[in-house]
Amino acid sequence: MALYPRIAGQTYEYLFQSMKEFRTKERSQAYASLMWPSVAQLTDQDLRDLAAYYSRLPW
Ligand code: HEM
Repeated sequence: MALYPRIAGQTYEYLFQSMKEFRTKERSQAYASLMWPSVAQLTDQDLRDLAAYYSRLPW
């Protein structure tokens, strides 16, 4: 679905940064608010683990 970006194979830094920006709500345009609850309770280490996992998946 166009609304949900494909994150497999994106770079680690990009994924980590994006999730941090959702957590602080700094990223707020378009449908960003749909992401806020998913990361609200996660620690930096959680975000690092997610970024590491998704960045290693094939595009
Ligand atoms: C393991 C769970 C999840 C992870 C790791 C994750 C991660 C991400 C990341 C890194 C982005 C940014 C992608 C980009 O900029 O190209 C993103 C965007 C997005 N995610 Fe998630 N997400 C998860 C779950 C969800 C769920 C459950 C929803 C819906 C309720 C959701 C809805 C969206 C939407 C709508 C966007 C685009 C936001 C925008 O337009 O700025 N995600 N997600």
